[in-house]
Amino acid sequence: MKNNKLAIDGGNPVRTTEFRSMPFITEEMIENVSSLMREGRLTRFIGSLVPGTNEIMGLKSFQVEKIDDSVTFLGGPSVRKLESKWSKCHGVDYSIAVNSATSGLIAAIMAIGIGPGDEVICAPFSFTASATSIVLANAIPVFADIDLDTFCLSPDAAEKAVTQSTKAIMPIHWNSNAGELDAIMSIAKSKKLKVIEDASQSPLMLYGDKYLGTHGDVGVFSLNEPKNIMTGEGGIVVTHDSSIAVKCRLIRNHGEAIPDQNSTDDLVTNAIGYNFRLVELLAEIGVIQLDHLPHLNKVRKENYTYLVDQLVHEFGEFIIPQRITHLESYSPYTAGFRWLSKNSKIHRNIVAHVLRSEGIPVACGVSRLMSDNPLFQRQLAYGNNHCPFACHLYKGRGKYSIPELPNAKRLQNKEYLGFFQIGWPNTISDMDDIVKGFKKILANKKYLSNIDLSKTDTFIPGR
Ligand SMILES: Cc1ncc(COP(=O)(O)O)c(C=O)c1O
Repeated sequence: MKNNKLAIDGGNPVRTTEFRSMPFITEEMIENVSSLMREGRLTRFIGSLVPGTNEIMGLKSFQVEKIDDSVTFLGGPSVRKLESKWSKCHGVDYSIAVNSATSGLIAAIMAIGIGPGDEVICAPFSFTASATSIVLANAIPVFADIDLDTFCLSPDAAEKAVTQSTKAIMPIHWNSNAGELDAIMSIAKSKKLKVIEDASQSPLMLYGDKYLGTHGDVGVFSLNEPKNIMTGEGGIVVTHDSSIAVKCRLIRNHGEAIPDQNSTDDLVTNAIGYNFRLVELLAEIGVIQLDHLPHLNKVRKENYTYLVDQLVHEFGEFIIPQRITHLESYSPYTAGFRWLSKNSKIHRNIVAHVLRSEGIPVACGVSRLMSDNPLFQRQLAYGNNHCPFACHLYKGRGKYSIPELPNAKRLQNKEYLGFFQIGWPNTISDMDDIVKGFKKILANKKYLSNIDLSKTDTFIPGR
């Protein structure tokens, strides 16, 4: 029992060193980026029309890579190479590199023709940008509950949320999980809705016979630092549809500079002067990272599989892993679980507090359910007049409300435990430390179950 003395009570913590999650940087990246700097190639994007621009706007990514970069609207060689490689890996014709997934989501939503008065259905359990990107595209996010087992959008809830204003559904692949994507796709098809996949956390993951991000009309990936593939900041939009690709390319680069008096209204609409361009230096990092992505994904998969097996084997009565619908190709961004306090009698927040004291960082949900953001609660986004919620084009005007979201609330407030430390260079022995942390908790089960959470100030939300 001595070894099981908890760190919160003065015992030795399981870990005194930090987990080693860090950016994956190779000598090749350092050399290539240095040589771009010597060459003076920070970016090649220019937003104005140069001869040849219109001719290349609709070309597939592998074709754009081969075109002379003096046609500057589509960026430089490294951006084009990244897009071409990304398309090839993910089996999709068009990849558009942008400076973040947030930018990518805004571009994707605008590119499929969503605008004022339109609703987009999404789950509340995600990083804030999934929902705010909808408002940034001037549309209305409508929250529908998650499935408690997949942590992703519930098809039933999504279907019930459809109104006459609904134009699209955004499945968010939380922790890289596809969730019930087939069912969501069927609903979208039957209701004639567009699908924007927030695949920020899911590069190179097969669901059925296609990669995540490529099932819907448009998909978006993130390249920011803690993700499976990382350029520091960055994102990629993918689509099979040339008109969506053209619109994304316009939106990325001050697109209003390109259409002229003869252009169709369709081309002009929604391309209003954004700059979402990715610099050459980061694109070059992405080109090389992509070669390593299968390996980086493999490390995540191995660590994750081991951690799940151990926790389920030892403590399956108290903790259950997120149900993954594409387990075969699954390489999660973070490892997500539900802690069943009903069975253990220990509150999830106590578990998190104890683990953190043992040197094991753990997330207790997302930073905040997106539906709890005052921006949506009070319907305040643009100006002082509740735009876009009060827009005269919005048929749901005056009726917008956040529904009861019992599953999302339960996961967020009581059950979710998430481990970020499964990526390279962490190894099985790091996973063993997480397991040891749980062993200590269960060895002190009776004691911990008697702590009255309301009388403690021990829990700090977040990681
Ligand atoms: C599900 C999801 N959507 C969107 C984003 C936004 O990505 P970025 O930071 O590249 O803008 C993130 C980033 O954490 C995310 O996890």
